[in-house]
Amino acid sequence: MVSRAYREGLVTHKISTFEEFRAAISTYRLPRVLLAALELDLCTAIGDRSWTLSTLAKKLKVSERGLSILCRSLASAGVLHKKGGVYRNSKLGATALNGNHRAYRGGYLNLIRSHWSDWIRLMESVRSGLPLDHEVPDRLDYRHQFTWAMHHRTLEIAPAITAQLHLGRAQTLLDLGGGPGTYALAFLAKNPRLRATVCDREAALTVAKEIASTHKAGHRLSYVPLDFTKESIPGAYDVIWYSNVLHIYSPDENQAIFRRVRAALKPGGRFILQDAFLRDHEGLYPTQASLFAISMLLSTEQGNTYTASETAKWLKQAGFVSIKPVSIRKGTADWEDGIFEASTPGPRPRMIANQTGSSRSRTTR
Ligand SMILES: C[S@@+](CC[C@H](N)C(=O)[O-])C[C@H]1O[C@@H](n2cnc3c(N)ncnc32)[C@H](O)[C@@H]1O
Repeated sequence: MVSRAYREGLVTHKISTFEEFRAAISTYRLPRVLLAALELDLCTAIGDRSWTLSTLAKKLKVSERGLSILCRSLASAGVLHKKGGVYRNSKLGATALNGNHRAYRGGYLNLIRSHWSDWIRLMESVRSGLPLDHEVPDRLDYRHQFTWAMHHRTLEIAPAITAQLHLGRAQTLLDLGGGPGTYALAFLAKNPRLRATVCDREAALTVAKEIASTHKAGHRLSYVPLDFTKESIPGAYDVIWYSNVLHIYSPDENQAIFRRVRAALKPGGRFILQDAFLRDHEGLYPTQASLFAISMLLSTEQGNTYTASETAKWLKQAGFVSIKPVSIRKGTADWEDGIFEASTPGPRPRMIANQTGSSRSRTTR
């Protein structure tokens, strides 16, 4: 699991002196070095061999001096190992960063590279208040790549989180905006009697189906192609899991979605949300959640990050009850204090054989 300092961003306290400002503003350097390694596809080129700088520089068609200085930084960060003048991959470099390894996380690495290009253009969105590219979210190739990126991002987080969320006697779960279905599959793996449905855009579901076909619980997963800002959500579920979608939308849009979610839950059904919630009165912290709003400025029409208390207020207005935070072990969560749940009024659904929300919904397999 990733250490807390990395998850929270490198600025974890207020900047009050020039030295602290200088330290904070200089933190771009290591990310730039890591991105240069991705641009060169360095770890793929190194593979499982050891390389002298001169042979590696020839292979990559870069200067030996440039590569030497870059590789030294990468070795000091732990991504490469150095012995004398010879470099090889670390375990991470040889697997997740190596395009020839089955554990390669290329989808997410490509997304990070595109984020860097977007963040460089931040002033455009600050001036206009608009995302950089209005067309992108609905473009098929973008959606496909983004969905793989989400899978590569959550591969390890999803099982760690779902292991701590106890679904009791729930038989049906909807992963709303579930993208690759990584969370749905993790819930299914943990709950052998559960059936799950992923609801997302058609292009995202193509990826979800491909991933589920390689997963042993994949046959218990169904799919609902839908735009839930425009249409109601079919079915009646015991649990709806809503992870990392809230920040895409405005307060009004979120409230409308919450009403649709409520209508798609059985009485006593559970709505479990995960997002980068702000926790303090002024809506500043955790720092990671404030910084994440910048990504929403760059990529969405009206997205933002929200305080836990305003989200709870929207849930209450949509008719939810028993709104409460869910504790997750430190270091295993996607966001610090990032999960809470609410219920629809009524007793918790009882186990009824052969009756599932997904079997009554508009699903495709
Ligand atoms: C940031 S991703 C999160 C994916 C996954 N839930 C996770 O936590 O890893 C947001 C997902 O919500 C989906 N989504 C956003 N708005 C949607 C809408 N109006 N209708 C259907 N899906 C939507 C996107 O296509 C995307 O797959």
